[in-house]
Amino acid sequence: MSDYAKGLEGVIAAETQMSFIDGEKGILEYVGIPIGELAQHSTFEETVYLLWNLRLPTRGELDAFTKELRGRYEIPGVLAERIRQLPSDAQPMHVLRTLVSELALHDPDPNKNDPASARDKALSVLAKAPTLVAYFDRYRRGLDFVHPDSSLSFAENFLTMLNGERPTETMARAFDICMILHTDHGLNNSTFTARVIISTLSDVYSALTGAIGSLRGPLHGGANEGVMHMLNEIPSVDAVEPYIMEKIRNKEKIMGFGHRVYKAKDPRAFALQGLAEQLAKDTGNEELYLKSVKIEEVMTRELGKKGIYPNVDFYSATTYHSIGLKLDLFTPMFALSRLGGWSGHIIEQLSDNRLFRPKAKYVGPHNVPYVPIDQR
Ligand code: CMC
Repeated sequence: MSDYAKGLEGVIAAETQMSFIDGEKGILEYVGIPIGELAQHSTFEETVYLLWNLRLPTRGELDAFTKELRGRYEIPGVLAERIRQLPSDAQPMHVLRTLVSELALHDPDPNKNDPASARDKALSVLAKAPTLVAYFDRYRRGLDFVHPDSSLSFAENFLTMLNGERPTETMARAFDICMILHTDHGLNNSTFTARVIISTLSDVYSALTGAIGSLRGPLHGGANEGVMHMLNEIPSVDAVEPYIMEKIRNKEKIMGFGHRVYKAKDPRAFALQGLAEQLAKDTGNEELYLKSVKIEEVMTRELGKKGIYPNVDFYSATTYHSIGLKLDLFTPMFALSRLGGWSGHIIEQLSDNRLFRPKAKYVGPHNVPYVPIDQR
């Protein structure tokens, strides 16, 4: 009980029925369904329903859930005005974190977290977050807002609001698959953050805001932007080998590789690699994909024996770039999707709550005399 595990490695701190991970075998399931099956056959909306209800919906249930979600795409008018007052060079993750927090100010009863209210608030944030990101991106580019369209799916609506035109079916489906793959992943740092915050019986907005702050870090969701920076820095496929070898020699971390839980290739990376290959080919970004494959080859040869393989962030960089997303929107895309997972965990935590309150092992001195300030 009193063992210290740095970074809580291996510590089981919650029970969940949402996702199962076998890090040795590279398996990920949502409510028992392999992630590859969901990526192939499901939609983001259905996946969120699955995670929040622990079963797949009937057609009627899915239609009702989707209708509810689409009916909430619009953000309060004052919030749209607020976006126009933000510094146009603000970073989108800071913008998203701030505005999700601000949604609480437009909720007449933000602290209610009985099961129905928690779901209701989570659904609103999930529906509005893409609007917040798309509006901010258009504002900073000097473009008019494109209002959400409740006849469109989560993926189609977001890409339409961002680009001012309907995405092709292939693009919308690729984006939808990315959303499915990123929705939930056990007790990762941001999900843990959300559960820790809600365990004080704080509110859904606070828990989601904290989770966004956690996800931004380069060791977590911020890694997908780090991967893109690396790909941009490497001038050609031939330059990959010396670039990576020098980083390894300098003991620098390669973004998009390694995982606390997976010691095999992340199952989401397989699906994303397929998407990255296809989209890169379709959009003239083949070299980006080929550089990525070469990086994986060198990393597997050099560090595979240490269990370091591509994680979810590695091929998502090429995928998002090929979809036409700007680099600093990559981590916000992760957040849009993970809002579904964080909310499911908030609902799960509230259903059987106990305050998170671990201990720290004190390693400082004892019985130190107090020295008055003028004698120090
Ligand atoms: N490149 C090179 N070496 C690595 C990497 C990497 N990406 N990841 C781990 N290592 C080495 C590390 O240097 C250490 O070596 P040694 O034992 O010789 O000191 C060993 O592997 C263990 O690393 P660690 O950082 O103690 O492992 P961890 O379980 O605390 O960290 C991790 C997991 C994801 C933070 C880490 O692998 C990492 O920093 N990866 C790069 C950032 C990244 O891609 N993050 C995304 C994670 S997956 C999706 C998400 O959560 O958003």
